[in-house]
Amino acid sequence: MTDDTHLVALARKARQQAYAPYSEFEVGAALLGRSGRVYTGCNVENAAYPLCTCAERTAVVKAVSEGEQEFEAIAVVTSSGAMPCGACRQILREFSDPEGELRVLVADTAGHVRSYTIADLLPESFTSDQLGP
Ligand code: THU
Repeated sequence: MTDDTHLVALARKARQQAYAPYSEFEVGAALLGRSGRVYTGCNVENAAYPLCTCAERTAVVKAVSEGEQEFEAIAVVTSSGAMPCGACRQILREFSDPEGELRVLVADTAGHVRSYTIADLLPESFTSDQLGP
């Protein structure tokens, strides 16, 4: 059983692996799958700046590549409690339930945690049902 406190702790630990020599802004994520398994991620930067990968996307790509596609919650930890970027919100929306109930726990390193759903963070979102037949 992974509760919110544990998920935030795992994200905080994953942040230690961040490769962020350019921004020096370290981000950790921990993504809870429906199976109960947790997939962690960190940001991975590159000297070619546009190739930087966010922590949330690292976690999602790890999970999907290991066979899990539905998620209950993600915790994201930064020094400042920063919100997930727009691109990561869209990536998370793809793998939420249709109602967008995937929970997003946004935490700082001092231990403050704010809780949202992906529908809160990305209302009126573009989803596969809008692609048509
Ligand atoms: N970053 C994330 O990992 N997640 C976000 O949602 C926002 C930004 C990373 C990307 C880059 O490595 C650093 O934070 C500064 O933008």
